[in-house]
Amino acid sequence: MDLTRIVDFVQKQLEGEKTGHDFYHGQRVAHLASKMYLKDHPDAHENSRVVAIIKTGGYLHDTIDEKVCADPAAVVAKIKKLLPEVGFEELEVKDILFTIQHMSFSQNIEHHYELPLTGQYVQDADRIESLGAIGIARAFTYGGKHGNEIYDPKIKAQKLVNHDQYRKHTETTINHFHEKLFTLEKLMNTESGKVEAHRRTDYMRYFVDEFMDEWNV
Ligand code: ADP
Ligand code: NI
Repeated sequence: MDLTRIVDFVQKQLEGEKTGHDFYHGQRVAHLASKMYLKDHPDAHENSRVVAIIKTGGYLHDTIDEKVCADPAAVVAKIKKLLPEVGFEELEVKDILFTIQHMSFSQNIEHHYELPLTGQYVQDADRIESLGAIGIARAFTYGGKHGNEIYDPKIKAQKLVNHDQYRKHTETTINHFHEKLFTLEKLMNTESGKVEAHRRTDYMRYFVDEFMDEWNV
């Protein structure tokens, strides 16, 4: 299946996006999710429809986020029109739309949405993007954009309790590692997701340990 029109659509929608949800994030999620699916399903073909569904979900997943667009419903309507034109069947369109509308971390704090298998790979890949070297870069970009401090020794490491707490933007970025990032590996759906999330979480622990050593010089 030719996904050129999907890629062009996402590039246009996310132009100028600087909150960590840019086109390259979508592209990495598409690549990582399909790579993990193929690793867990060695008989599957790179050009299969299921891989096209995963890649498409990966590319599109942030285009309907209210942080990224002013009118998510209008973008959903555009996607509904585009997907059949690219060649997706009705049930495939349904899977892709359900996934991108229910996969975000914030939506799943107080409610757990059961995603189709394709969506589970997209969700894992998106969460893995919050980990590792890229995850560290994104966290400090986000913190800087919201005027948050890097670290405050008066604030004890906090875990997440609810959605409102997650949406307040005032926490320090180091606290975000304790609040969210170190908890993500336990939330992985897929075998490959668990392995990669663990590897990137280890890298991040190393970073935060080093950060604390340097802070407490
Ligand atoms: P989702 O789209 O799944 O709801 P977000 O948009 O909240 O996730 O997160 C996007 C990126 O910004 C992630 O890398 C995440 O770790 C980072 N981020 C979110 N909230 C904070 C915060 N308070 N401090 C630092 N980084 C954050
Ligand atoms: Ni994302």
